[in-house]
Amino acid sequence: MSTPPAPTSIFRAGLLEGQVALVTGGGTGIGLGISTLLADLGAHVVIASRKPPHLEAAEAAIRARGGAVSTVALDVRQPEAVQAVVNGIADRLGRLDVLVNNAAGNFYAPSATLSPNAWKSVLEIDLYGTFYCSQAAYPVMARQGGGRIINTSMTLHYRGWPLMAHATAAKAGVDALTRTLAVEWAPQRIRVNAIAPGPIPTEGVRKAFALPPDSGVPDIFAATEARMAEYARTGNPLGRWGTPEDIANMVAFLASPAGDWITGAIFVVDGGDWLAKREG
Ligand code: HXC
Repeated sequence: MSTPPAPTSIFRAGLLEGQVALVTGGGTGIGLGISTLLADLGAHVVIASRKPPHLEAAEAAIRARGGAVSTVALDVRQPEAVQAVVNGIADRLGRLDVLVNNAAGNFYAPSATLSPNAWKSVLEIDLYGTFYCSQAAYPVMARQGGGRIINTSMTLHYRGWPLMAHATAAKAGVDALTRTLAVEWAPQRIRVNAIAPGPIPTEGVRKAFALPPDSGVPDIFAATEARMAEYARTGNPLGRWGTPEDIANMVAFLASPAGDWITGAIFVVDGGDWLAKREG
């Protein structure tokens, strides 16, 4: 039975043929958009997620498009498990060209009462996990003569963002890590960049951004559909919400030879969102 052709994207078919990509948190939301595009472009995509149902659904969806995909259960907070997954990819597929550190955890919570474990959970997923995965990928990428690491940042730490001390601290750390690893690993031809997505109303993000009552914080992901539509029309300078495909396109660009002289850069992909003054 022939497989259906992957839908056309702005990138040429076969752009990433023969390459292997690992996408953490790649089974849902923005991560799934990234996994799907990389597979459409010919990469073998390994999707890592803590949640087996997410893995099964994503694998089936990408297979149905004719993509090469495999999955692995992984909590990026466990350095030994991360190491085992990356070594497994190198043994089984022979290489690792692209690492997308997409896995993230987030929720609004007052700093005054944030528990040590809540602080630790977000820091460990967003920042430590990014480091553990990058460190595990390093020897494989160095051995094969190079690779690309693409981290997930945000824009909320560019200014004060109440109720998000944990995530803003973690993502500021991701920015620092991106710049430092870019310089440190440039001799090995490992390019390290980051993408800072603007508001993209995936299910996970809307859950993470559910505001406590009377929080006084800008309601980015307004609960009602009417407010959502209003935001799309007036709240974002380019007049719409973002999509996982917007972020996936930047990942594909950075993973491709178009990004050959780009390292240590943090690309904001947000329709101008963070620059615009917003009412509460
Ligand atoms: C206060 C909370 C909380 C909340 C969890 N905790 N949610 N505290 N307010 N809303 C606390 C718990 O009470 C616990 O502390 C600690 O955090 C760990 O919670 P667990 O549920 O036991 O941890 P775990 O199962 O590992 O889950 C990790 C998680 C969860 C981060 C808490 O939300 C998660 O898995 N999220 C992944 C999906 C996600 O968040 N996606 C959105 C990413 S959006 P105690 O002390 O009770 O033990 C994003 C930004 C996009 O990253 C920016 C766009 C502009």
